[in-house]
Amino acid sequence: MDRLLEIDRICFPPDQAYSRAEMLFYLKRRSSIGLAAERDGEILGFAIGHVAGGSISRVITLDVIPEARRWKIGTGLMEALHGEFRSRGASRAVLEVDTANTGAQRFYHTFGYKPTLTE
Ligand SMILES: CC(C)(COP(=O)(O)OP(=O)(O)OC[C@H]1O[C@@H](n2cnc3c(N)ncnc32)[C@H](O)[C@@H]1OP(=O)(O)O)[C@@H](O)C(=O)NCCC(=O)NCCS
Repeated sequence: MDRLLEIDRICFPPDQAYSRAEMLFYLKRRSSIGLAAERDGEILGFAIGHVAGGSISRVITLDVIPEARRWKIGTGLMEALHGEFRSRGASRAVLEVDTANTGAQRFYHTFGYKPTLTE
């Protein structure tokens, strides 16, 4: 948990990074999926997802430390997450990404996510 919070603080500005209580909430729900990418015992990235029931799943967060980016760790985590979504009956996935986060938007575009505007 400490490492996940540390990575989240590195990946997101203070107003977007999760508190310990938020991270625990997202990880401990029965419908939560938590995946970590490790090398030599060190977590380099992680993903949290959720299937709420029905056919819709949600990517809650995806974080890869800056030193390990563009190594396809994010791709591996998303592929594993999508596999979990499918195995739990979800046929559609949604996520939220900051409009200023163009790198992540390009990344998600490679998986077929299409933008929709919300308030
Ligand atoms: C977005 C993020 C998860 C991508 O992880 P990653 O492991 O670096 O991604 P991958 O190596 O699997 O990238 C796969 C492809 O996505 C695209 N991509 C990834 N990051 C990109 C960026 N910053 N700009 C443009 N395209 C990008 C590229 O097409 C890339 O393929 P390429 O390297 O062969 O060109 C990572 O940059 C990150 O943790 N960012 C901070 C947190 C964040 O924004 N999370 C997502 C919002 S919830």
